[in-house]
Amino acid sequence: MCGIVGYVGSEQASPILLEGLSKLEYRGYDSAGIAVFNEGKIEIAKAKGRLAVLEEKTHNGATVHGTMGIGHTRWATHGEPSDENAHPHISNSGRFAVVHNGIIENYIALKQRLIERGFEFMSDTDTEVIAHLFEYYYKGDIMDAMIRVINRVEGSYALGVLCSDYPDQFIAVRKASPLIVGLGEGENFIASDVTAILKHTRNIYYLEDEEMVVLSKDGVTVYNKDKEVVPKDVFTVNWDISAAEKGGYEHFMMKEIEEQPKALRDTISPRIKDGKIVLDDISLTTEDIKKINKIYIVACGSAYHVGVVGKYVIEKMCRIPVEVQVASEFRYCDPIVTKDDLVIVISQSGETADTLAGLKEAKNHGARILSIVNVVGSAIANASDDVIYTWAGPEIAVATTKAYSTQLAVMYLISTYMADKLGMITSGEYARLISEIEALPDKVEEVLKSKEEIQYLASLFYNCRSIFFIGRNLDYAVSLEGSLKLKEISYIHSEAYAAGELKHGTISLIEDGTLVIALATGRDLFDKTVSNVKEVKARGAVVMGVTTKDHDMTEVADHIIKIPSIHETLLPSLTVIPLQLFGYYVASLKGCDIDKPRNLAKSVTVE
Ligand code: AGP
Repeated sequence: MCGIVGYVGSEQASPILLEGLSKLEYRGYDSAGIAVFNEGKIEIAKAKGRLAVLEEKTHNGATVHGTMGIGHTRWATHGEPSDENAHPHISNSGRFAVVHNGIIENYIALKQRLIERGFEFMSDTDTEVIAHLFEYYYKGDIMDAMIRVINRVEGSYALGVLCSDYPDQFIAVRKASPLIVGLGEGENFIASDVTAILKHTRNIYYLEDEEMVVLSKDGVTVYNKDKEVVPKDVFTVNWDISAAEKGGYEHFMMKEIEEQPKALRDTISPRIKDGKIVLDDISLTTEDIKKINKIYIVACGSAYHVGVVGKYVIEKMCRIPVEVQVASEFRYCDPIVTKDDLVIVISQSGETADTLAGLKEAKNHGARILSIVNVVGSAIANASDDVIYTWAGPEIAVATTKAYSTQLAVMYLISTYMADKLGMITSGEYARLISEIEALPDKVEEVLKSKEEIQYLASLFYNCRSIFFIGRNLDYAVSLEGSLKLKEISYIHSEAYAAGELKHGTISLIEDGTLVIALATGRDLFDKTVSNVKEVKARGAVVMGVTTKDHDMTEVADHIIKIPSIHETLLPSLTVIPLQLFGYYVASLKGCDIDKPRNLAKSVTVE
C-alpha cells in the first residue's frame, strides 16, 4: 500500500524523506514523490517507477531544498501509475500539497462539484480532490480547512498536508489508514509505519481516527475535530533497527523464516507463567467463555488460513462451533452474528480494509471482537474489544511467514485457555499442551535445519507449471498456506485440495509428472491420505510427502520430508515450515522478486 513520510526540523528534508520512503518500499508501490517548503513556496518532485527514478531526478534530494516536507510512495488504486498521478498533489494556486494513503469513496461527486467551481484537475486520482478542497475551504486557518475537508470526504485516509502560508509547521490526520507521529529532538515526523523513521526516533504517537496533528520542529500537538488538544501517550518502539533491515540475508523473507523460533518465543513466553496460560491481554472471563454460542473467524489470505487451523483446533478442544470466512465475503453476507458470538479477527498489519470492515460488520451485530494482530496500535487492534498481539516484530516481506506462525501459536494458546476454562481438557492434557507449545520454537528450529534438502527439491520442480497441495483436516488447512506461499512469490499456478475431495473432479487434472505435495502428518487420517496419494500416483503424479518421523511414506511418495513429532494439534506449525522454504527456493531459482512480488502489497488497505 501507499507509504507516507513527513519531516520538519533543521536538516534538509528531501534526503530524509527519500530515505524514509526507501524503508516503505516493501509496502508495494509504482510511483513516488516529495513536496518541500522552500522560501515561501512548495517545491514538488515526483516520478513513476521505483524510488531510484525519483532519487536520480532530484540528485538524491539535492535539488529540492527546505527543512520541511512530505513524501509518498503510491500503490495505484484510482488512475494508472504515472508522473501526473503520483503524489504529492497540489492545489491550483500551489498553496497546498497533499499526500494520501487510502480511498476517497465520494471523490467523483466532489471532483464534479470542484470542476464546476473552476478548479482544474491534473490527474485521475481520488486524492487530488483533497488538495482542491483545501483551497476551497481555506480562509486563513489550516486546521479549520482540515476539519471541513475531513467532514466532506468519505472513505479512508492518512493525510500529510503542506500549506505555503505555514512555513514552520505542517498538518496530518488519519482515518482507517495507518499513520504514526515520530517525536525527535528539534525535529518531528509522520510515517505510515515506524520503519520509515526508526533511524531518527523510537518515540511515537499512535493517532486515533480523525485526530489531527500539527507538527513543527519544536513540538507536536494532537487535536480532535473540536480543535481540543488531545493528550497522547508516548510509545517507545523496542524494535532494533536491524529488525527492519535484512541483516545479511538476500531477502527479508528468508530472514523472517529464520526468525520464526524467536518470534514464537517472544509470542508464547509472556503468556505462560508457572505452568499456566496467562492471557492478561484479554478481558474474556470464564463466564464470558461459557456463554459463547458460536465463534466466527474473519481474516484474509494467510491470516484466513490460520483461521482454518483455528476452526479444527477450537472445535476439537472446546466443542464450540466455529465458522471461518474470508473477510471480503463476511462483510457483505449479512452474517447471522449475535451478541452471544465471539468474532476472532486475524491480521498481521491490522490495516487490511476487508478485515477491518468485517470487524465493523460483526460489531454492528453486537458480537465481541478478539483480534490477533502484529502491529501495535493498528486500526484493527484499536477497534477490537480485546487484542492479543503477535510479537513477531516488523514483517517486511510481502509473503508472510513469522506472522502466520505466531498467529498459529496465539490460536493454540486461546484454544487451550478456553478448553481449560470450560473444563473440556484434563489438567494432564492442559499441562502437556503447555509443555508442547513451549517446545514449539525448538521444534521449528529443528525443521529449519532441513533447508538444504528443501532447496534440492526446489531445484527438481521449479519449472513445474502447476503444483497441487493435498491433505486432510489440519493438513488440509496447512496445504492452503503452502499453495499460497508458492503462488504469490513464484507465480506458479497451484491448488490446495482436501485430499478426499480430489476424486470429485479435480483429479482429472493429474497427469504424468504432475507434482502433488501430500501432507500426511495426522495420525488418525494418515492411511486415508495415503490412499489418496495412491490415487494420484496411479494417474502419473510425482508425489512429495510431508509427514512425521512416526510415519512411513516410502511406499507411495517419490520424495519425503520428515518433521519432528509433536502434539497433533500443533503439527501445522511444523508442517508449514518446509512449504515456506519450498516456495522461497522455487521463487529464488526462478529469479522472482521474492520480497516484493508483482501485483501484491504487504498491506491491502483498499477493498
Ligand atoms: C500472505 O503471504 C499474503 N501476503 C496475504 O495473503 C496476507 O496474508 C493478507 O493480505 C492478509 O494481510 P493481514 O494479515 O495484514 O491482514
